Amino acid sequence: MLDMHCHIVPNVDDGAKDLDTSIQMAKAAKLLGYDGILATSHYIVPDNELVNSEFIKKIDELNKEFKKNKVGVTVYKGNEIFFTNDIVDLIKEKKVCTLADSRYVLIELPLYTNVIPLNVYDEFNKLQDEGYIPILAHPERYDFTTKNINLLYNLIEAGVLLQANISSILGKYGIDAKNNVKKMLKADMIHFLGTDSHGISNYSTYNKAIKKIKKYISDEETFNDIMYGNPLKVLKNQKISIWYPEIEEK
Ligand SMILES: [Fe+2]
Repeated sequence: MLDMHCHIVPNVDDGAKDLDTSIQMAKAAKLLGYDGILATSHYIVPDNELVNSEFIKKIDELNKEFKKNKVGVTVYKGNEIFFTNDIVDLIKEKKVCTLADSRYVLIELPLYTNVIPLNVYDEFNKLQDEGYIPILAHPERYDFTTKNINLLYNLIEAGVLLQANISSILGKYGIDAKNNVKKMLKADMIHFLGTDSHGISNYSTYNKAIKKIKKYISDEETFNDIMYGNPLKVLKNQKISIWYPEIEEK
């Protein structure tokens, strides 16, 4: 099983604060059934511009440490790219990582916006024209989702895939995100789940959250796609077929 979203690389963003934390996180992930983790450290211009070569070196070191400590988890490079108008250039200039060198790119938007700005669609189109597939991080957390969940339907129609955070269902990000994720699960609007872990604290709750998530998903096949199938396709750089959600009228 692959965690699609995790801040496990130490000392590069607000995630793991040291190597020991990273090892603890990976061990806790292994207990949950994860054997792979996408290291999606924040890339935010200009506050937190990771230097890609150093980041990749840290991932290599992390994998060596995990082997030495017999953790049984592999870390793959990635980034959670905070929305900007030049994501295509950043990828081409190798300033940011796609997910495990695939065509898939994890992007987050500002949380507190009531609309999806038009330039977001422009940038997603640009990415698609270059062969990349945008994945929107934690769509349940945005104000525009709370205001009108159908906006996410438009994004899916535009070829954007959605990655929800496991803990949202337990209310970690507030009541709106909790309600949004329930609606999205019921309407088959989620393509991936991720922990979005920034440390060790929430791992004990993930099992409970995953069980709860399962209750809201229409069938076993969809659950398996979201949990196992689709993340594996990202790792293998394979195409993911999108199902079109059934939305409630608002
Ligand atoms: Fe994140």
